[in-house]
Amino acid sequence: MKIGIHDIAAATGSLVLDLAEIATNTGTDLAKFHRGIGQFEMSINTVDEDIVTMAARAAKPILDRHGSDNIRTILFATESGVDQSKSAGVFLHGLLGLPGNCRVVELKEACYSATAALQFAVAMVARKPEEKVLVIASDIARYELDSSGEPTQGGGAVAMLVSADPALFEIEPATGLWTSDVMDFWRPNDRSTAVVDGHYSMQVYLDSVGKAWSDFQQAGGNSFDEIDYFCYHQPFTRMAVKAHRRLTEICEVEDVDASVATLEPTMIYNRRLGNSYTASVFFALLSLLDNSENLAGKRVGLFSYGSGAVAEFFTGIIPEGYEKHLRVAHHAEMLDQRTNIDYADYRARHAAYDELTGSYETERQTNGDYRFAGVVDHKRQYRNAE
Ligand code: COA
Repeated sequence: MKIGIHDIAAATGSLVLDLAEIATNTGTDLAKFHRGIGQFEMSINTVDEDIVTMAARAAKPILDRHGSDNIRTILFATESGVDQSKSAGVFLHGLLGLPGNCRVVELKEACYSATAALQFAVAMVARKPEEKVLVIASDIARYELDSSGEPTQGGGAVAMLVSADPALFEIEPATGLWTSDVMDFWRPNDRSTAVVDGHYSMQVYLDSVGKAWSDFQQAGGNSFDEIDYFCYHQPFTRMAVKAHRRLTEICEVEDVDASVATLEPTMIYNRRLGNSYTASVFFALLSLLDNSENLAGKRVGLFSYGSGAVAEFFTGIIPEGYEKHLRVAHHAEMLDQRTNIDYADYRARHAAYDELTGSYETERQTNGDYRFAGVVDHKRQYRNAE
């Protein structure tokens, strides 16, 4: 039985900061951002948006198309959770008015957990093929102002409907795994921004490519030549290029530049979104699907990395007729309808984030259909935006 991604849709914040704003105001050469890290813009959330409202915005087109019948599980993957106890998925379930006969949980392991969610979903559908699982990856990447991670912030959500006989991506059984207890990036409970040892995190990421690939080979996975496209976790898009160069070295690929060039369609969305943590590798897949032609029958390898660290390499096949199920115009609008903000506005919003404590109401600012309206008696308030 074929199982995998039957539908996929995405959302991001309502605002955008052009990295030229950071370059000009900090005296940084813009080429460092464009060429050095491969980033051009980053999505910024309004005060009334969070991982739940972005998730709702991403999932809505999927529910409109397929209904909620047979979705008995929602797996919400995030590393920017809004509550230590209650799953962001339950807030989402309420906001979207989904039926009660459903199990809902949140999963966490830095930027990796949505891949675990996807694999868990595949296993659940294998057990009950008539059921569908809604997998959500939603994150907001925040680093301290003036830190080296600052230009690699961003955010977004990807919603995926996992089912039997999928229309978009048939996930294959072989998978390569790697876990190692390291401190390259983490966010203690008392912090709203991540602590990161940036260069060390790149080193661990690259080491994990080799480890997960080696396990993938031992698990009976395809050879390098049998994989047509590679989608990597993209904390910044140059990281995908570095990762692919590492893999081509391991696999002794002759024409490395030609192989690296095949990454191009996987990086179009993330260059403009910034880092979306758990969603990032799926934005790479979505970018490939939306921005390439004639993908039917092609095999795609996905490398997922979450600091801390867990990594997984797996593959899938794109079925015939997949293109009829895409939402290319919707995702172009997602990026183009964001409102540009300047450096001063960005900094003010970043600083104001930590001042929101106790009970408060948020101003209506989002251009989306769902709002985070504030907090009353420690309870987060979510609403449909009128
Ligand atoms: N023109 C072109 N390229 C330039 C440049 C210029 N003027 N100035 C610098 N660069 C290049 C550097 O050579 C480097 O490329 P290389 O790695 O291929 O050598 C790249 O731009 C980044 O420069 P660097 O000095 O390493 O940047 P940094 O120390 O300020 O920060 C990160 C880079 C990624 C460490 C930082 O953004 C970070 O901590 N990000 C968050 C953590 C993260 O994303 N980790 C990834 C694994 S999960």
